[in-house]
Formats: sequence, C-alpha cells, structure tokens
Amino acid sequence: MDNFKALVLTKENDEASLSVKKQRMQDLPEGDVTIQVAYSSVNYKDAIVGVQHQMVKSFPHIPGIDLAGTVIESSDDSYKSGDKVIVTSYELGTGHHGGFSEVARVPKEWVVPLPDGLTLREAMILGTAGLTAALSVQRLEDNGLSTSHGPVLVAGATGGVGSLAVDMLAKKGYDVTASTGSSSEKEYLEKLGAKEIISRDEVTDDDGTPTRKKRWAAAVDPVGGSTLQYILSTLKQHGSVATSGLVGGVEVKTTVLPFIGRGVNWLGIDSVQCPMDLRRKVWDRLADDLKPAHLNEEVVNEITLDEVENTLQEILEGRVRGRTIVKLDGTE
Ligand SMILES: NC(=O)c1ccc[n+]([C@@H]2O[C@H](COP(=O)([O-])OP(=O)(O)OC[C@H]3O[C@@H](n4cnc5c(N)ncnc54)[C@H](OP(=O)(O)O)[C@@H]3O)[C@@H](O)[C@H]2O)c1
Repeated sequence: MDNFKALVLTKENDEASLSVKKQRMQDLPEGDVTIQVAYSSVNYKDAIVGVQHQMVKSFPHIPGIDLAGTVIESSDDSYKSGDKVIVTSYELGTGHHGGFSEVARVPKEWVVPLPDGLTLREAMILGTAGLTAALSVQRLEDNGLSTSHGPVLVAGATGGVGSLAVDMLAKKGYDVTASTGSSSEKEYLEKLGAKEIISRDEVTDDDGTPTRKKRWAAAVDPVGGSTLQYILSTLKQHGSVATSGLVGGVEVKTTVLPFIGRGVNWLGIDSVQCPMDLRRKVWDRLADDLKPAHLNEEVVNEITLDEVENTLQEILEGRVRGRTIVKLDGTE
C-alpha cells in the first residue's frame, strides 16, 4: 500500500482546519508497529484536540486517541503481520499521529493484543471510554465495593464513559442510579440496566455543603466540578468515587469533613499512563466479566472519516449519546 486516507489537522496563517487527505507511507511517524486500522472511535478528548487544537505538539497532525486493527509490519518480535491489536492512550492522537487514519505506526510499548472475546469493532465501541469505565469499576472494587453495599451513582450517564459504566455495573449486579442532563434518554438508560434515573440538577452542589444525607455506596464520575462536590458530600460511610473527567468543570470545592468524618475515598482514574499490566488485565476483563451487555446495540453509532469533524462539534455541545465508532477501510 502506497497511499491511505486520514483526517489531518493543518495550520496555515494561524488558522487550523481539519480535512480528509491522502497520505503516503513515508508520512507516518517513527514507530515499531505499523497497523491497518479497522476502527477508531470519537472521545471528548478528540474534540479538545480536533476542534480546540489543544494538546497538539506539531502540525500537520492526525487526531484520534483510539484505534484497533491488524498489524501490517513490525520491527519488534512481540508482534507479527496479521496480529489483531488495540492502541489507546499515551500520546496517540495528541503528540503522535492517531487513529483517524487508515494506517498508523506506533511504539511497541503502546500496543495491546486484542483479547479473545472481543472483535476489533467491539474493542472500539469500548475504546478509551470503556477502558476508563472499567478502570473505575476495578478501582472501586479494589477499594472494597460489593453489590451488597447499596446504590452506585454514574454521572454523565448518557456519555461514553457513563453509558459503558452503567452497562457494566448493571451486568455485575450493582444497583445503578444514572444521573443525566438528557431527560429524553430515560428509556436508553433503563435499557442499559439503570434502576433509577435522576436529573443532573439533583446531583449538582451549588452552596458548598460539605456533608448531606448519605446516598451512594460508590460513584463513577466523568463530570467533575459541582457534580463531584455533590458526590463527595453524599457518599456513604467508607464510600468511594472514581473520578475521571472534567466536562462539568475542573474546580472542586470541598472540605476535609467527608474524608475524616465518613472515611470516603476520592480515587483518581488515569487511563493515559495506566501501567501495562493493569491495562492488559482490564482489557481482559472487558472481554469477559466487564463486557457490557448492550455493546453492539443502543450504545453504538457508526460513522465514516468524513463525518468525524461534525461529531467532534456535537460531542463538545453534549449532543452525542453513547459511543461513536469510525469505520476505516481496513475493516476485519
Ligand atoms: N481520566 C481519564 O483517563 C479519562 C479517560 C476518558 C475520558 N476522560 C474524561 O471523561 C469525560 C467524559 O468523557 P466521554 O468521552 O465519556 O465524554 P462524552 O461522551 O461527551 O460524555 C460526557 C457526558 O457528560 C455529561 N455532560 C456534558 N456536559 C456537561 C456539563 N456541562 N455538566 C454536567 N454534565 C455534562 C453528558 O451526559 P448527560 O447528558 O447524560 O448528563 C455527556 O454525555 C471527559 O472529561 C474526558 O476528558 C478521562
């Protein structure tokens, strides 16, 4: 293959723009493993890169923080032509050309073999959002959470991390409460397994109250800001929140009271630099006990490379439900 297509972010006269362009193999960055990409997916971070042009090290740049595909060539013995692989995290799609491309080349250290039990398409329905939701569940369980402890809140429930967290927690037998700003998506969240659906307003702190009536055994929070403030004030004794996102703001005002009075745990989730042994363990769980029950149904929306720019805008405006995957030419 001499040429392939990619979504390229270019900058001219201080003006950045996205367009689908023909690329040559020699345009690929350095790396050990060259991959024919079958699917990528669209995440909130892709919008930060593609629309807001943040985190980009140099132009031209190919965004896309997720990819799954088949190895074409590898200079490292760990991988051979024909192997099916997943790549997410590190600098993929930020400081290094990413997955919105029919071909990608990456360092061997970023590559995860596709686990048995997942197709390449399913791996991208999960993508970074699925890895993050599963890391959140793993951390909560490592911190002692079990189904007998009471309701688990998932904030931003119709988003990528949120939808997958609802689905995987419900499958594991947890009693899931989903909070959402999208009142029209009640049926969707019920289908994923949420027992109770509440309004985003109900889980928003607007007066800095440090402790309130105890409600949740645990929470998965990709929202942050005043939602996280509310969660910290309503966790049960020794409850935990796994915090991964900032769509609701980066500032969190709290006091020591939930921590020293109720022993609550504020657990940080970092999928980007997650160590490889934990990453592989969580991908294996994603192919097994944490594989969401509705992965190939309501959660997924499939688009082509030409439609990515529009979806990036929609994700920033909070108008995208569940997960959007991008089908590239090298499909399985
Ligand atoms: N730490 C990590 O490793 C990691 C990994 C992946 C993602 N993230 C972060 O997690 C967050 C979610 O990512 P995603 O890909 O799931 O994004 P997403 O698909 O856009 O989902 C975000 C959801 O949050 C809710 N929301 C949007 N704007 C909001 C606002 N102003 N206030 C409160 N809620 C709001 C919406 O759900 P409802 O309409 O249902 O309320 C939206 O669907 C992002 O901040 C992302 O950067 C972090």
